[in-house]
Parts: sequence; C-alpha cells; structure tokens
Amino acid sequence: MTPDALPILCRLDAIPDGNAIEVEALVDGETESLLVYRGGEEARAYLNVCPHAGRRLDYAPGKFLVRGGKVICAAHGATFTADDGLCEAGPCKGQSLRAVAVTVVDGDVRLT
Ligand code: FES
Repeated sequence: MTPDALPILCRLDAIPDGNAIEVEALVDGETESLLVYRGGEEARAYLNVCPHAGRRLDYAPGKFLVRGGKVICAAHGATFTADDGLCEAGPCKGQSLRAVAVTVVDGDVRLT
C-alpha cells in the first residue's frame, strides 16, 4: 500500500504539540478509541485503555492529562512515557499502553 493510501486519523496540526487528542478508528476490524500524541513532527497512537484496570485514560471525553512527555491516566494516576507507552509510575508500573502503528505523511497522521 502506498503511503497516501493508508487510512488518515487526523491532521498532525490538529494536535497541540506535546499534547494528545482522541480519534476513533477501525483497528483489527473493531472501532477503537485512540489517544494520538504529538511530539514535534511525529505522532504516536495508543488504545485509550489503561493496562491497570482497563479504564479510559481521558478525564473527559477526548481530554487527556499530558505533561512533559508523560500521559497520566485519569483514573488512578498511572504515568506513561508518551514516546513508547511504558508505565513508569503508578499501579501498573512496567506495563505498557497498546501501541497502534502510525506514520505522518504530508501532515496527515495515518494508520500503517
Ligand atoms: S485504570 Fe489507569 S491507573 Fe487505574
């Protein structure tokens, strides 16, 4: 599949740098809520499911706690590194968010 045939999630510039938005997308045939994080000109995406108790990460629909490159689960405060999804503090330390592969092509964040 050529890069411009990959499904578009959103525009990169729709995400404030260093923050994240929610996008719903088909992943493995299921509609999933995704957290899409922007770090400069790159994006990362994860299922919006915390490995601790399976709750959503956002504190209100589509609103995530993101500070200094960390994503904080609104339920019990697990803190994940936005670049790789690893929980570095909190009740699921050492576990990871489930990454969904994305790439940025001409300013569009696309599933790969
Ligand atoms: S569900 Fe995320 S920290 Fe408990």
